[in-house]
Amino acid sequence: MRDGSGPYPSLDDTTHADQGNKPLLRFLTCGSVDDGKSTLIGRLLYDTKSLFDDELSTLRKENTQYGTTGNDIDLALLLDGLDAEREQGITIDVAYRFFSTPKRAFIVADAPGHEEYTRNMVTGASTAELAIVLIDGRHGVQQQTKRHSFIASVLGISHLVLAVNKMDLLLYEQDAYEKIVTDYMAFAEGLGFKSVTPIPISARYAANITTKSKETPWYDGPSLLDHLETVSIDRDGSKKPFRFPVQWVNRPDLNFRGFSGQVASGSVSVGDAVTVAKSGQQTTVRRIVTYNGDQTTAVEGQAVTLVLNDEVEVARGNLLVSPRERPNVADQFQAHIIWFSHDQLIPGRPYILRTETDSTSATITALKYSIDVNTCAHQPAKTLSVNEIGVCNLSTQDSICFDSYAENRTTGNFILIDRFSNATVGAGLIVHSLHRAQNVHWQALTINKAARAEQKGQRPVVLWFTGLSGSGKSTIANLVEKLLHAKGKHTFLLDGDNVRHGLNRDLGFTAEDRVENIRRIAEVAKLMTDAGLIVLVSFISPFRSERQMARELMPEGEFIEVFVDTPLEECMRRDPKGLYKKAVAGQVPNFTGITSPYEAPENPDIHLHTVGHDPLELALRVESSLTQR
Ligand code: ADX
Repeated sequence: MRDGSGPYPSLDDTTHADQGNKPLLRFLTCGSVDDGKSTLIGRLLYDTKSLFDDELSTLRKENTQYGTTGNDIDLALLLDGLDAEREQGITIDVAYRFFSTPKRAFIVADAPGHEEYTRNMVTGASTAELAIVLIDGRHGVQQQTKRHSFIASVLGISHLVLAVNKMDLLLYEQDAYEKIVTDYMAFAEGLGFKSVTPIPISARYAANITTKSKETPWYDGPSLLDHLETVSIDRDGSKKPFRFPVQWVNRPDLNFRGFSGQVASGSVSVGDAVTVAKSGQQTTVRRIVTYNGDQTTAVEGQAVTLVLNDEVEVARGNLLVSPRERPNVADQFQAHIIWFSHDQLIPGRPYILRTETDSTSATITALKYSIDVNTCAHQPAKTLSVNEIGVCNLSTQDSICFDSYAENRTTGNFILIDRFSNATVGAGLIVHSLHRAQNVHWQALTINKAARAEQKGQRPVVLWFTGLSGSGKSTIANLVEKLLHAKGKHTFLLDGDNVRHGLNRDLGFTAEDRVENIRRIAEVAKLMTDAGLIVLVSFISPFRSERQMARELMPEGEFIEVFVDTPLEECMRRDPKGLYKKAVAGQVPNFTGITSPYEAPENPDIHLHTVGHDPLELALRVESSLTQR
């Protein structure tokens, strides 16, 4: 501890440290709420004199307004930048801070501690080499501690510091500290970190932060900063295969065409051969242009513009790679998924999958298992809930370029986005591609859809009827088919009840099963349009996501959504199969409209209100609308 009247030194001797060209350590802090993360980072910035003058004066001012440490300076205020989170007393987003000492420069990501915010931790952790897991000495190892440590290990962080904080409140007792360390080590053993370094600290009273504390004579390890300055960073990205995601095509005039981006891994020199990962086109590098003039070589982390020797087709989102070490280009792979959303993961549901270079539709085709973060045991699972981690097989609509996360953290990760809310619902770390994706190829067949359709003298189309059970879907679809048949059209009607007796007899009515039900039917409908048929589909198909997925399987204009709109009360009154009566009595679980949701179409292509209209009249409307198209 420093001399002075209070626990903090005078603010006036703090100047901004020199931040020259030194080795860089990226780290993050994690732990539960109130473990003292923000105070710890504030302390590191403050004690290494890394604060700007305006930050210091703001800190002095704000302290009187929000401070939680009485008349002392509340260092946590430095990090809790947003007003909202300050007022709620929790940290919301990832805050990055820079500081340096004569030996090293540091970038620290402050990952929030609240149970809900695993997402931010993942964001902060993906480039870090070290994680400081903070524990409130009074509470010991928490579930949150384990979860964050586990995620840190999955994210490939090599070094871990177990910072047992608030030692002042434990009166710097060795026994209390040792017990926490023993507990934690028993858990962390299996996580595969290269080093786990426990340090007893008090962020508030600067104990063992930048200097060793007199209060812990029994502790013979380094101070936290000492450790951060000396821990070996065995990152040598320039030895990895060259990967360059093209962020934009730089074409100021006809004489210059360059591809700008940041080297994600490896290095490239003028004259090197490079390949466009997806197309396989190859050329060589003519120039490496930067803001400060041309270079002969560019290495990981550098932002450059590459000028190539041949006119190959390269667009934004392409990946330029070394031809001898090419990434996977596949549409099926296995990945760890960390789930963030409060809505559960649904296997079979299409999500948007986004990598550094690609964005496409993806579904989880199999959830292999979830992982219990307390024991690291694999357990069978049907879904993942918020903050859960699992291993899944995924299938994407278009092939994507990737490496395994273990080989390359930049090209090995992706996020999953909900198609309707646009929220990021999960993060993925790719384990490997699936062999079947590499060994199954499209075959070019001579007789195609157009030929089959022409022979039948019709344009293939899918009429997708959606609506509650008992709304009249099957009745109307049946009449439409009769009308088309009478006109000599080749049709097929896929009806929910019927298909559930055959192809889909293994499926029930849980959300997961319904998603799979619709996925299969959409694929069958697509095959039938390939056969040149007019396909009528009559399924409740209660979820927007899957109807959208079905639409996207077909070419533009070939999917016509027909909303058979009958109010629930009317369906219950009609109750043709007596199922509503049973559902209300609790005899049919997950019944649509009663105990399972129906998401009505927002913009159906054809909207049929059935009340007060004759089914034949409605069928004629569908048929004439089809003829017009
Ligand atoms: S969907 O939701 O997966 O699209 P689908 O159209 O195949 O449903 O099957 C609906 C038919 O199954 C209904 O018309 C009804 O006869 C019957 N059924 C049995 N149980 C349920 C249930 N829990 N919810 C809805 N329909 C059910």
